[in-house]
Amino acid sequence: MSHSEISRHQFPDNFTWGVATSSFQIEGAHDSDGKGPSIWDNFCDIEGKIADSSNGHKACEHYLRWQEDVDLICHLGVNAYRFSISWPRVQPDGQGAWNEAGFAFYDKLINALAERGIALHLTLNHWDLPQALQDHGGWANRDLCGHFTRYATEVARRFGSRLASICTHNEPWVIAILGYEQGIFAPGIQSRSQAFQAVHHLLLSHGMALQAMRGLGLTTPMGIVLNLSPIYPASDDPKDVAKAWLDDGLILRWYMDALFHGTYPQDVTAHLGQDVPVVLPDDLVTIAQHNDFLGVNYYTRNFSSSGNPWDVASTGNQVTDMGWEVYPQGLTELLCRLHADYQPKLLWVTENGAAFKDELVGGVVNDELRLAYIRDHIAATQDAMAQGVPVGAYFAWSLMDNFEWASGYAKRFGLVHVDFDTQKRTLKNSALWYQNFLSEK
Ligand code: FCB
Repeated sequence: MSHSEISRHQFPDNFTWGVATSSFQIEGAHDSDGKGPSIWDNFCDIEGKIADSSNGHKACEHYLRWQEDVDLICHLGVNAYRFSISWPRVQPDGQGAWNEAGFAFYDKLINALAERGIALHLTLNHWDLPQALQDHGGWANRDLCGHFTRYATEVARRFGSRLASICTHNEPWVIAILGYEQGIFAPGIQSRSQAFQAVHHLLLSHGMALQAMRGLGLTTPMGIVLNLSPIYPASDDPKDVAKAWLDDGLILRWYMDALFHGTYPQDVTAHLGQDVPVVLPDDLVTIAQHNDFLGVNYYTRNFSSSGNPWDVASTGNQVTDMGWEVYPQGLTELLCRLHADYQPKLLWVTENGAAFKDELVGGVVNDELRLAYIRDHIAATQDAMAQGVPVGAYFAWSLMDNFEWASGYAKRFGLVHVDFDTQKRTLKNSALWYQNFLSEK
């Protein structure tokens, strides 16, 4: 099948089609109505950390313009919306008092979308941890598991029955490795031992939160979202092959083995040496709770080399504005591999999309490359389903251009263009294509 012929009819009628966002990237209103600071608020204040020296004070002003954004979501014709709650908006210190004004915002957002038939997929932690908890060591501190579990339970108690799913964490690898080992994301720490302790606590808190939320008697599907990509050796050289397998362990098997098999991979543990995290008896049993779904965020594949850094240009494929190779087959391969090795009950593509330099000319953004990217990855999802992989959802990243973390506003992933001076939203051609694809009768 040619990818340009992909049609909605090749998917089951009950397939979930959505767009995704996250709180810090769109909401703005960083200190409104009692919200506490998050680690990203503080990180943006450190000189040199954000490429365009921007911050999330305004972002897309979604906190103010949420009704217009609800209209936009409905207008696209999707049947689902993936979003996150800002923990410090609903609990400024991450422990103790709840902020009712913060909960009221999400309450009205959820009701407005639910009334219009949009299924709501909520993420509890899309990175904007209350700064007050970072002051106690952040995810490297085991106490966070208890704080997160109480926060999760409160959100589930208030909103659970109105949601189509609850995800605990978005991309624990990014939180821990970019935030605590490489220091290029909040909180900006550079310590491998803290990073792996943070990873362990993120996974442990996932298991604890699932147990507690299910303890409320909720039947809302619950799971986690991981950033995953297939990793290839840069050559047949056994050193490159060994490096690719270790890297696979660091990015994929560490998380998947723990969540689905209740073990950490031996080769990675050996590699970590002194930096191996403290794991108490039963922690891995707690981590390996049943997941109703596994969310996969896929953008590109990776190559590992034991020598010179891999040059993405050598693939000859299109490269996005992030410098990421466009490789849709990688999504098919990844979904098939996860199904073969771990058998999650249900797989969802929870993020997929591309940053390209857009031009708004006469009210039109002709983003052919993004359109092709989305279309070809939807087809790649279908290819995995044709091979028997139980995939139930596809969410495009992102509804609209937003604050792209350390890249600031310079990288645009939206299906909808945002003019950050006027806050005007304009559907790009990729959005019009998705709308048309979804409207096929
Ligand atoms: C993912 C994040 C998401 C967005 C995309 C481009 O890692 O989950 O917030 O920034 O990358």
